[in-house]
Amino acid sequence: MSEKNAKSGDKRNSFSGSIGFVLAAAGSAVGLGNIWRFPYLAAKDGGGLFLVVYIALALTFGFTLLTTEVAIGRKTKQSPLTAYGKVSAKWKPLGIVASLVPVIIMPYYCVIGGWVVKYLIAFITEDVETIAADGYFTGHITEEISPILLMAVFLGVVAFVVFKGVNKGIESFSKIIMPLLLLLVIGISIFSLTISHSDADGVTRNGMEGFLIYIIPDLSGITVKEFFSVLIDAMGQLFFSLSVAMGIMIAYGSYVRDDANLMSSINQIEIFDTVVAFLAGVMIIPAVYTFMGREGMAASGPSLMFVSLPKVFSAMGGIGKFIGIMFFAMVLFAALTSAVSVMEAVVSSLMDQFHLSRLRAAIIETAIALVGGVVVCLGYNKWYFDIVLPNGANAQILDIMDYISNNCFMPIVAIGTCILIGWITKPKYIIDEVEKTGCKFGRKSLFCVMLKYIAPVLLAILLLKSVGILTII
Ligand code: ALA
Repeated sequence: MSEKNAKSGDKRNSFSGSIGFVLAAAGSAVGLGNIWRFPYLAAKDGGGLFLVVYIALALTFGFTLLTTEVAIGRKTKQSPLTAYGKVSAKWKPLGIVASLVPVIIMPYYCVIGGWVVKYLIAFITEDVETIAADGYFTGHITEEISPILLMAVFLGVVAFVVFKGVNKGIESFSKIIMPLLLLLVIGISIFSLTISHSDADGVTRNGMEGFLIYIIPDLSGITVKEFFSVLIDAMGQLFFSLSVAMGIMIAYGSYVRDDANLMSSINQIEIFDTVVAFLAGVMIIPAVYTFMGREGMAASGPSLMFVSLPKVFSAMGGIGKFIGIMFFAMVLFAALTSAVSVMEAVVSSLMDQFHLSRLRAAIIETAIALVGGVVVCLGYNKWYFDIVLPNGANAQILDIMDYISNNCFMPIVAIGTCILIGWITKPKYIIDEVEKTGCKFGRKSLFCVMLKYIAPVLLAILLLKSVGILTII
């Protein structure tokens, strides 16, 4: 192979084995989505009901999309931008939309990564009471320079890992970070279940009570409309959480060796992601309930992680500082491994489409993310505005980017993938790829029905609801 070919990525890297792939893919899946969105949705949507619906969807809908994307990647040995065109030449435009998703996500993911860095440093160097005070979070994000610098630090680490490549970068990094992440998640979860606290007015609550609220389905007076709303919430969450419909699993699938057992890896990734999402709820819901009561559980997104939780850590007394450090270290690990996968989806696309070296592709994507990240940061100060999105949410630049990628482009990519594989190439295209090593394709009939009928319909409902066209459910 000529040096030019080698540089242009013609000799494709691969994960050294199944463990490397599973840890990298689980690292991608377990991210900010698990930690700040899952517990909030679970608390909002009747606790156990959301859990049951989520797990049922993960085993059917999530499994179908994850298997399809990983198999497309391994079969075509291409990144998202070029893989769809290789499946069917007419479907190349779907690859463009699929690879735009990580381009849009990367800048704001890095901005949030920068906020996590800020909180980790703050918990190490400052009083917990100061961090928990009203206005601390807003004070930070409205500063002009510091959020940009911390976003750049986070981006720099991610870019370095991606530049090091699939084996020496992504795989080695995931093999170190993921076990640490799991240890921290389990440790904080156990701690959260054992706490108790008495309010100034004498009310005592404990972690186990919060845990029961989290896991026991609350079906009192639930209407069909409310059930649908839980279903749609769980499906939207599942997408983002499993890293499907954003090109990532196609890129990672393209690095899986031809002799690997795809089914067992996919099952392990699903289990890992779902267990960590569940444990994120165990870490957060009992602690917030114990120290803030049921009202505290209504916070979501940034305000849950950066406003409510520091108040919880502050109320814990001496140990709060230590728990805060552990918690934000854990969030940082989860965010880093996910951001690495988001960037890799773009870098591999640039390498495959334009035959660039990994270094060049990484520099281009880092520059795009840096400019985008600066714009997102400025959206909280110099360029601040507030608009209402079609789904009714108030939004700044970060929320608009999140809305376009998650609520519009991702359902489009997923619907397109279901139609392409379910109806054009037929599911056999994926089944043959999975079974070529002689491994058993469990849930095969379910896979075909989901891909052809159920997933596209559910996705269409999700898309129409997200863009504000469907308002009756
Ligand atoms: N799957 C990643 C997350 O949950 C992107 O944050």
